[in-house]
Amino acid sequence: MRAWLMDSFAGVEKLRLGEVEDPAPGPGEALVRIRFAALNPADAFLSQGLYPAKPRLPHILGRDGAGEVLAIGAGVENVRVGDAVGILRCDAGVNIWGTLAEKTVVPAASLAPIPAGWPLEEMAGAPLVFLTAWQALTQWSEPEAPPVAGQTLLVTGASGGVGVASVLLGKSMGLTVVALSRSKEKGAKLKDLGADFVFDPADPKLRKSILAAIEPRKVDLVVDSIGGALFNQVISVLGYGGRISVVGRSGGEVPQFNTATLFFRRNRIGGVTVGDYTPAAAQNVWKQIVERLDAAGRRPVVDGVFPFEEVPAAFGRLSQGPMGKVLVRP
Ligand SMILES: NC(=O)c1ccc[n+]([C@@H]2O[C@H](COP(=O)([O-])OP(=O)(O)OC[C@H]3O[C@@H](n4cnc5c(N)ncnc54)[C@H](OP(=O)(O)O)[C@@H]3O)[C@@H](O)[C@H]2O)c1
Repeated sequence: MRAWLMDSFAGVEKLRLGEVEDPAPGPGEALVRIRFAALNPADAFLSQGLYPAKPRLPHILGRDGAGEVLAIGAGVENVRVGDAVGILRCDAGVNIWGTLAEKTVVPAASLAPIPAGWPLEEMAGAPLVFLTAWQALTQWSEPEAPPVAGQTLLVTGASGGVGVASVLLGKSMGLTVVALSRSKEKGAKLKDLGADFVFDPADPKLRKSILAAIEPRKVDLVVDSIGGALFNQVISVLGYGGRISVVGRSGGEVPQFNTATLFFRRNRIGGVTVGDYTPAAAQNVWKQIVERLDAAGRRPVVDGVFPFEEVPAAFGRLSQGPMGKVLVRP
């Protein structure tokens, strides 16, 4: 089969389109023909050695995808040959070969049916970012639970995969959503997706603008993909008991972080790791996500689909800041 092979930890620019033997499913696994694969920033990080996983080389990146089951291994009962499926977050593309290939083998427990009426491409890019957004929104209760309706959610990097998922899920939970995007055009699309307010993170009066918009409330919860210089401003708009779910750090290190900014409003910061979901937990959460999207008449957002030969250009698009998910079609 054709696949994009990673021969070194020298970045996605060094990926090579080559031929490898078709993988075969072992017990509990399924072989899936990938019709659409989706890119994630984690693929680029892994390809530069900036990710905890160090898979054997050559590796095949790609954590998300959708297609049909071509073969199943012993003991697989939840899917049959010919089923259309999507991959819920698992080890594919991390420690085992991933979806930037014509075929991939994944644990059958991490396959989910395509929700009724969804085209394959909408499924292909959704699971990883929606599961991440779900954890970011619900992790502050034990057991995990959505925030109380009427609270205010701030989403940084809102046009990205996790950002769009956070906006859509946040609205489904009855939250007031404030979204940040550097682009006016993407800001308008975020409004169409239900964001109540959209601001440019570079606005010199960002704090004032956000607080004036949501007055008399302050921000209850943040899903933050950016960190960097924005982080201190994010803390400054939190209300009493406000929480920040830290998902990513596209903006780099936080300069001059003063822990005292957390004291008086008892603010809390917590990391998010989508990898913490077991296959069973991911299936359970994914079902709730699909039900919420269907009930709201919303769908995952696809930024664009690149031909398989154009994976480097697709990574280029991802690094510019897409609107939703960047896909490739093997
Ligand atoms: N912790 C976890 O389990 C987990 C899971 C999934 C993803 N992540 C991480 O979360 C982050 C976001 O993932 P994603 O899939 O949503 O990424 P993405 O699709 O690339 O989107 C990120 C968005 O952030 C904005 N952005 C990018 N660089 C920026 C910068 N330097 N300053 C300000 N804004 C910037 C862009 O929006 P605008 O152009 O509209 O401003 C972009 O659309 C990544 O770092 C990823 O690795 C973590």
